[in-house]
Amino acid sequence: MDKLLIEGGSRLAGEIRISGAKNAALPLLCAALLTDEPVTFTNLPRLKDIGTLLRLLADMGVSVEQEGERVTLHAAQITKAEASYELVKTMRAAILVLGPLVARCGEARVSLPGGCAIGARPVDQHIKGLQAMGAEVTVEHGYVLARSPRLQGARLFTDMVTVTGTENLMMAACLADGVTVIENAAREPEIVDLASCLVSMGARISGAGTDVIRIEGVARLHGTTHRVMPDRIETGTYLCAAAVTGGEVRLLDTSSAYLDAVIDKLMDAGCEVTTERHAIQLKAPARLKAVSLRTSPYPAFPTDMQAQFMALNCVAEGSAVIRETIFENRYMHAVELQRLGANIRIDGSTAFVNGVSRLQGATVMATDLRASASLVIAGLVAEGETVIERIYHLDRGYEQLETKLAALGARVRRLS
Ligand code: UD1
Repeated sequence: MDKLLIEGGSRLAGEIRISGAKNAALPLLCAALLTDEPVTFTNLPRLKDIGTLLRLLADMGVSVEQEGERVTLHAAQITKAEASYELVKTMRAAILVLGPLVARCGEARVSLPGGCAIGARPVDQHIKGLQAMGAEVTVEHGYVLARSPRLQGARLFTDMVTVTGTENLMMAACLADGVTVIENAAREPEIVDLASCLVSMGARISGAGTDVIRIEGVARLHGTTHRVMPDRIETGTYLCAAAVTGGEVRLLDTSSAYLDAVIDKLMDAGCEVTTERHAIQLKAPARLKAVSLRTSPYPAFPTDMQAQFMALNCVAEGSAVIRETIFENRYMHAVELQRLGANIRIDGSTAFVNGVSRLQGATVMATDLRASASLVIAGLVAEGETVIERIYHLDRGYEQLETKLAALGARVRRLS
């Protein structure tokens, strides 16, 4: 299994390009199931999760033609409306095929994702929504079986704000008979990106980006070409990495438009952040100030940036209180950060971090995608060598991580 070796102490400086967003690309690729015409995506990030989903779609009979950052999917016929446990267990987002498959084929068999390192993460809201739209849904032998000759528009209300739940139901509603209204919808920018792609395929959607989305079903959708939005979490991760090293970086092909909460915290920590239309520049002070935060659905501070800010706080001046409100078990990085010398105390969903003047390199283990990113950030400032094991988590979500970090001056190497 690959490991990452980081020699800490380099100040990050320079420019890199940000990739397309993983969390936008995954639902977008699933949207191609809704039409029998070709759909082309550009700015597709080259990531393990994307490869897994493309394999799953190919297995369903979708033709996949990929060339670099461009992919054309053609679901002329869906030969198998099924997603097996083998694929869904490695990537929870595969549940996003459920809505499009039922809407297009009238049936679907999709494995339940099962447990996940950061919490239980059930899909009951996805199921409840499809049932409200008239689908007959059963759970048998670990699989969700959903059937409906034609989904019916309905008023849907999710018990909590769920990102993929909103996306699944929005896609399903595009081909339903009548009007669907999703209340308590997630407002993440990735939902707006998905809605704009669906609209360019002929869907009738309004309200994406607010907590009430209205979808008027149509009989069929057509092909389109869509550019995947920039990855706001990758952007935030490199901003944090530059910040902890006292660095100065310019990130290209990205946008500050979806990063207000993150940029605010970086400025509170003492960084200078300037934004252009498609670029963000950050200049960090010699030592950061600790910043407290609370994760919440968009537009508040994203749970996917919590671990990176914990790493930042570990070496900042002062102390910070972090509250995680989305996932019940998202502090696994804390014990690994402690191995590098961090001073962190966890009490339920709250973490208390007291900044220390230095961290020391050690061998640590990546436990999930964003936890791994926090270990990379800590490794960049730790004295000596940090070895991060199980970096397949990083490959799921960060395109060419070592290359991009090295371009900014980090001393980082992959050990196979
Ligand atoms: C998405 C993101 C993930 C991010 C998360 C929260 C993708 C591919 N992944 O995950 O990176 O961390 O949003 O911003 O976009 N819940 C239920 N029942 C459900 C659905 C959700 O109880 O049917 C709970 C979850 O356990 C969690 C909370 O709702 O506690 C939010 O989860 P959700 O927004 O659905 O996360 P994902 O869409 O899986």
